[in-house]
Amino acid sequence: MTDDNHVILQNETTKTSCELPVLSGTIGPDVIDIRTLSQKTGMFTYDPGFTSTASCSSTITYIDGDQGVLLYRGYPIEQLAEKCDFLEVCYLLLKSELPTGREMQGFVKEVTYHTMVHDQLTNFYKGFRRDAHPMATIVAVVGALSAFYHHELDIRCPIDRNLSAIRLIAKMPTIVAMSHRYSTGMPFMYPQNRLGYVENFMHMMHATPCEDYVQNPVLVRAMDRIMILHADHEQNASTSTVRLAGSSGANPYACITSGIACLWGAAHGGANEAVLRMLEEIGDKSKIGEFIKRAKDKNDPFRLMGFGHRVYKNHDPRAKLMRNTCHEVLTELGLHDDPLFELALELERIALEDDYFIEKKLYPNVDFYSGIVMRALGIPTVMFTAIFAMARSVGWIAHWDEMISDKEQKIGRPRQLYKGPAKRDVIAISGR
Ligand code: CMC
Repeated sequence: MTDDNHVILQNETTKTSCELPVLSGTIGPDVIDIRTLSQKTGMFTYDPGFTSTASCSSTITYIDGDQGVLLYRGYPIEQLAEKCDFLEVCYLLLKSELPTGREMQGFVKEVTYHTMVHDQLTNFYKGFRRDAHPMATIVAVVGALSAFYHHELDIRCPIDRNLSAIRLIAKMPTIVAMSHRYSTGMPFMYPQNRLGYVENFMHMMHATPCEDYVQNPVLVRAMDRIMILHADHEQNASTSTVRLAGSSGANPYACITSGIACLWGAAHGGANEAVLRMLEEIGDKSKIGEFIKRAKDKNDPFRLMGFGHRVYKNHDPRAKLMRNTCHEVLTELGLHDDPLFELALELERIALEDDYFIEKKLYPNVDFYSGIVMRALGIPTVMFTAIFAMARSVGWIAHWDEMISDKEQKIGRPRQLYKGPAKRDVIAISGR
């Protein structure tokens, strides 16, 4: 790289060179601007998994994976988790700044009055088997939202975009709770405007028409923290999916649905569910060695779930906060000697001392402890990824909105390195 911020790309075969500009962000590594590369050289870059590619510019979230730093709009996640609640964080992600007291009042009111879903939407659930995975029903129902708001889906209109964002944030807890209730055969519970965002979700999950759900402030705070820690995470797989879907001009509910589908995978949002299943399978501290051995074996597909991250090559700051929350919740419930938590602590200790995990910089990620917290909150394992989707919806919609407003935005259309057959002639079936 030279001082005037460009790089020279030298092709040793053709003895040609090409100059490419280097762009700088506020913080973080510079990027080589390759937009003119194909025009100048006739070549593309090759980067499966986008390990070296910045797909867009963004002002929402910053991660320094080596230092274990996570900032939303410049604010450290630790401070947000301590001083704000989830709806304040939603406001920040959507509108770039933290709200004043007055702005917050207006925002809470707006979200609260959009929590109910159209009554026709409840019919969708009845078409599913009771044992359907909640993520399957949520993908379908969120996708169906676009069928209810035809007249307010102009993606070029900021008012419509804001309304879609509010509707999504407001209705996700209702939809997620309904998926749970349907799978257990319990009646749907309507949202209650007197309750806060997280309290309302707990109410819709756990109350019955016969009995109120008694809120515990420690548990409400824990759920709120789960929501804050999962609210956004830069250009991860599901957010990139939302941006790619949105780049064609698809409506916001369709785009968020594509994000939910992507999140479902075990390498992404499905990991919290997988962690709990793994801990249950390990069952006892004496078996940890056996599972660590399997995780290191190249011929065994088993991976230590809740460990490793594409970006964090140091402690995931969210995992530290989640570990503390786990302590708080288990102490509050008198479960501090919970065998699964003790197993998780021991597994973490052993893995962090193991050469394989040290060498590959594999640390616990946010999902390592979030499952244990959710289990203590009475949320069934099968619902864990749905909770992640509920929290991440604000991040997805903030990125979608940023993308639509970006003057440099184009339809996403990567190229490929073709390795199939070269051109050949078709022989009629009788001659094959
Ligand atoms: N257990 C054992 N080995 C691992 C693990 C693990 N959890 N994670 C990575 N490795 C090894 C991997 O085998 C590879 O070894 P080698 O270089 O010898 O081939 C090396 O570490 C690098 O792994 P990678 O798969 O190339 O790294 P990646 O950046 O593509 O994958 C990951 C990141 C999160 C998908 C991966 O670490 C993983 O599968 N972890 C378990 C699933 C998990 O906890 N996912 C939640 C991610 S955080 C929540 C979210 O954002 O969704």
